[in-house]
Amino acid sequence: MKATIKACANLALIKYWGNAFSELNIPINDSISVSLSELQTTTTLEFYQDEDQLILNDSPVSGEGRQRFDFVLRHFRMLTGVTDNVKIVTTNNFPTAAGIASSASGFGAMAHALYEASGLDYSDLQVSSLARLGSGSASRTIHPGFAHWHRGADHETSHATQLAPPNNLRILVTITSPEEKPLSSSKAMLRSKESSPFFAQRGNTANDHIPYLKKALLEWDFATIGEITQREANNLHAVINTTEMGIYYWNRTTVEIIHRIKQLQTSGIPCYYTMDAGPQVKVLVMPEHVKEVEKSLAEIDDIKRIINSGVGFGSQVTQDHLF
Ligand code: DP6
Repeated sequence: MKATIKACANLALIKYWGNAFSELNIPINDSISVSLSELQTTTTLEFYQDEDQLILNDSPVSGEGRQRFDFVLRHFRMLTGVTDNVKIVTTNNFPTAAGIASSASGFGAMAHALYEASGLDYSDLQVSSLARLGSGSASRTIHPGFAHWHRGADHETSHATQLAPPNNLRILVTITSPEEKPLSSSKAMLRSKESSPFFAQRGNTANDHIPYLKKALLEWDFATIGEITQREANNLHAVINTTEMGIYYWNRTTVEIIHRIKQLQTSGIPCYYTMDAGPQVKVLVMPEHVKEVEKSLAEIDDIKRIINSGVGFGSQVTQDHLF
């Protein structure tokens, strides 16, 4: 059987950075994300008899990506009893591994496609848990709108649920460098656990933010959503920047954008920044202020591209097969 899934990347408002149990990506804290409509992965998967094959953007996947793929597949076989081999072809419409969560949409699409192509009955929560094994943030992919990843205690209980449906929020994804990041988030967060003096507090800080952001999202209190999102980004980067790993995610343009967003806030325009393990800055803004913010960002020379995204549909079955 063959299935094709379109999955949106997601942006964490409350960040995941570290595991209580690393092998299964059981995190130290809950996290909350928004699905991004313009950043999509398409994955076609077919069960067949030949050997397992994974092709991303026209090339076979090797190294860490392939190991994660094999790990997810092994668990899927164990959980379902399905033994056939698989062929997977997948494409992204945005730069892979540059801090805009390609692993989240990639493993989200893969997990969804495995269940869909198997012909078995399945739930969103099973897809979420399976996706988590490939990439923690992928657990939040399947849901449209806003998702809440409950850290849980084991494979079955560590999954995401939908928190709120899509609305008219815009997310400006500013690409300051299209290069692949030197170290995956999964590896970097392990190093934070070993070496950042602030890591011990990180999980508590994020968990403390959860009820406030949840309430603000349900009541759509945009100022509070923005403030918590920025505070989370600052807290995450305090941990990252004190991790001994010989890399620094931000570049000059990252810092310039942060300053620009702060200036816009001072002049009364509600817009808020957040960054993940990469140099891109994502800006939350409501539709009535998009033009002003885009105009101001356009004055910054080194921004390579701005993707103006809406809130996405999570992941969906489609008939547009890639092979
Ligand atoms: C900073 O679970 O996506 O984006 O699969 O190695 O990329 P990799 O790790 P992943 O880590 C996400 C870290 C983060 C915060 C977040 O998305 O919650």
